[in-house]
Amino acid sequence: MKQAEVYLNGAFVAAEQAKVSVMDRGFLFGDGVYEVIPSYGGYFLGLGPHLDRLDRSLAAVRLHNPLSREEWRSILSRLIGPPPAPDQAVYLQVTRGAPPERDHLCPEGVRPTVFAAAKPIRPRALEVASLGVACITRPDIRWKRCDIKTVSLLAAVMMRREAEDAGALEAIMIRDGMVTEGIASNVFVITGDQVLTPPTGREILPGVTRELALGLARTGEIRFSEQPIPVDALARADEIWLSSSTREVLPVTRLDGCAVGHGRPGPLWARMDALYQIYKTQVRNGQT
Ligand code: PDD
Repeated sequence: MKQAEVYLNGAFVAAEQAKVSVMDRGFLFGDGVYEVIPSYGGYFLGLGPHLDRLDRSLAAVRLHNPLSREEWRSILSRLIGPPPAPDQAVYLQVTRGAPPERDHLCPEGVRPTVFAAAKPIRPRALEVASLGVACITRPDIRWKRCDIKTVSLLAAVMMRREAEDAGALEAIMIRDGMVTEGIASNVFVITGDQVLTPPTGREILPGVTRELALGLARTGEIRFSEQPIPVDALARADEIWLSSSTREVLPVTRLDGCAVGHGRPGPLWARMDALYQIYKTQVRNGQT
């Protein structure tokens, strides 16, 4: 089978031919940032907000964006192919590059390493809409700049394994008695007809899907509020949702082995999902 093309430092090459130096600071220090951007039928969903967040992550770690908006757009579009292309997510990462020596301080003038590749978005399993997904809660053991989309993901990798071992998809993290977010998603807690989600800040990643869901809630007249959520609100919740670019908005129906609400995806999730699916169809038709 022909290997998919990936982008590495100015060239499109077969994945197996793409090689990075062992001195790369992404490899040695986790010194880099990334994005995951979904596309439907050859059209990106949220390309602008994702590239805005890339700019913010790069600025926060004092890395210059090596490519212009137009260059990013053209590279990422080539990776997914022209419409009508299959549904795919592009992964892109920028690391601080490969200086000759390993030193925490990076010398000036090192060329960043830029990598991007597309992979299929698998359609959601049918049981998700009927049964929902399971999560566990865990202390948020990450650092204090969770607003930066860094490739240093060891805490997330450890917690994902713990979730898997507990038969769960994700862990919802708790810091100082407050809900922060999922390992790779934002969290929504629904009580009655009110949707709550933690405010943006340094404790969470400002999710593009989170923002989209809040916009859809507005148009669908779903009441929501961005406010800190104490951990005990999880046990009282009627519904809990997770959002991410590759998973859309997911209903969490079991938390730490207990049913959330009635233990089935709730009515507000069904409304939100319907709005999301309509939006996705518009994206796929090139109407956004
Ligand atoms: N993760 N919070 C964290 C910690 C995340 O890693 C992600 C996304 C989100 C949701 O952000 P968005 O809606 O912009 O995808 C929130 C991606 C999908 C990943 O790491 O693969």
